[in-house]
Amino acid sequence: MAVFVLFMLWRFLYSCWVLPNQAYQKLRRNGFSGPTPSFPLGNIADMKKSLRSSSSSSSLSIRHDIHSRVFPYFSLWQKLHGKVFIYWLGTEPFLYIADPEFLRKISAGVMGKSWGKPTVFKNDRKPMFGYVKHDGGINHKHARSVDGPNHLWKARNRRGDRNHEHSRRDHSEDELRNELRKRKEVFKKLRAMQMALFKYTRYVGVPFSNFMCPYQNSEAKKLGKEIDAMLLSIITSRKSNVGQPQKDLLSLLMAESQVGGSSEKKLTTSELVDECKTFFFAGHETTALALTWTLLLLAMHTEWQNQLREEVKEVIGDGEIDATMLARLKKMGWVMNEVLRLYSPAPNVQRQAREDIRVDGAVIPSGTNMWIDLVSMNHDRSLWGDDVYEFKPERFKDDSLYGGCKHKMGFLPFGFGGRMCVGRNLSMLEYKIVLTLILTRFSFSLSPNYCHSPSIMLSLRPTQGLPLIFQQL
Ligand code: HEM
Repeated sequence: MAVFVLFMLWRFLYSCWVLPNQAYQKLRRNGFSGPTPSFPLGNIADMKKSLRSSSSSSSLSIRHDIHSRVFPYFSLWQKLHGKVFIYWLGTEPFLYIADPEFLRKISAGVMGKSWGKPTVFKNDRKPMFGYVKHDGGINHKHARSVDGPNHLWKARNRRGDRNHEHSRRDHSEDELRNELRKRKEVFKKLRAMQMALFKYTRYVGVPFSNFMCPYQNSEAKKLGKEIDAMLLSIITSRKSNVGQPQKDLLSLLMAESQVGGSSEKKLTTSELVDECKTFFFAGHETTALALTWTLLLLAMHTEWQNQLREEVKEVIGDGEIDATMLARLKKMGWVMNEVLRLYSPAPNVQRQAREDIRVDGAVIPSGTNMWIDLVSMNHDRSLWGDDVYEFKPERFKDDSLYGGCKHKMGFLPFGFGGRMCVGRNLSMLEYKIVLTLILTRFSFSLSPNYCHSPSIMLSLRPTQGLPLIFQQL
């Protein structure tokens, strides 16, 4: 018994103390500096302290230079250690990157198998994303299901004359109502889970961190199970309708998982449930937030509301919206990009080295996590110029992809490389449709009650909401 206890103690110390220490020394030897970590929290205590002093601030004056507000600790450490440094979440080393040239160099020679998503987040976020988000990206097998807007456009287009939901002839009215009720419930529960997991800094990366925030963790697990059960029942009821035409993303995924070949391509039911969870969150939250921040910026810049209304009138007129027209809404595209730059709904991208990665003679050891700070790069004066904090959609006029950013990896609202967002084309469609419908019906301005309160809860959200005043046109 004593031997067993000693063995367990040795294992614990080895994985929580010896290995991280070796990684720390190796990173130091390779020239990476950073804030000094302490055992077992790493730099979490500093991060919490720094957040406490900045998060209470919401303000009536609206300033777009939000980096020091949403990531106060990164902003401070950047001043001390530059745009690439090491910090620690518990016993997990993270390489912080806000330098696009460094990012280009490390990503240039990296094969897909050499990096994935940080394992440390895997268990922590499992109730929210299942295995999909982190384990080798199974969704990429099905990426074309959402990447080609055509699939989804067909579904959207059917909504033009009738309600999209009612066009599902394969569902009885009752089944449909039932499914809609479950979907709304899934959204509600996902939101509650987001609050449980991300409202407060927890102790991710700290040994036995599950015991440190027991309430939030068990709440997230409970919600995760409830969401799984709801999605499973939607899938089961859809399965009883096999052979019907494909009409939405779930039908497409189900069809691909049932037919067409190799077992590698097929999804099990539990994989389908995980895919749904990821799409419900990644697909809904991000686009909804892009639209939310757009409404804020257009409420502040009514001249752009007018310009977009003019463009919609020219391109679409009073007719029905179709996909080819949306592609011609150029100014709306600039506005979307500028919003994603100033208020990127996905504020960071993460990777984990699965092998040693060599860059400029230095080695990033296998296992090192990487935290790529998109907000910082989007607000970097040296990349965008002196008007970096101004809302200027026209910067995308002559350079529709990069908006004049001085480095091609300085503007990555949808991520990069093989793990780039699979829903980017769909999100542009959704964005343009919703914004067109709003702009052609209403003009809007900011309510005097608005408090500017951007903060990170996995995504970049206006914590105190966005009260607007709408007027029918
Ligand atoms: C404005 C809207 C959106 C933004 C800003 C956004 C941004 C991102 C970013 C930054 C990533 C991480 C990419 C990386 O690691 O390199 C990502 C991943 C992902 N996005 Fe989006 N996204 C948006 C809309 C959507 C939509 C509409 C869907 C689906 C319908 C979607 C599905 C996904 C999925 C499944 C992943 C995970 C890919 C993986 O981990 O391998 N996203 N998105």
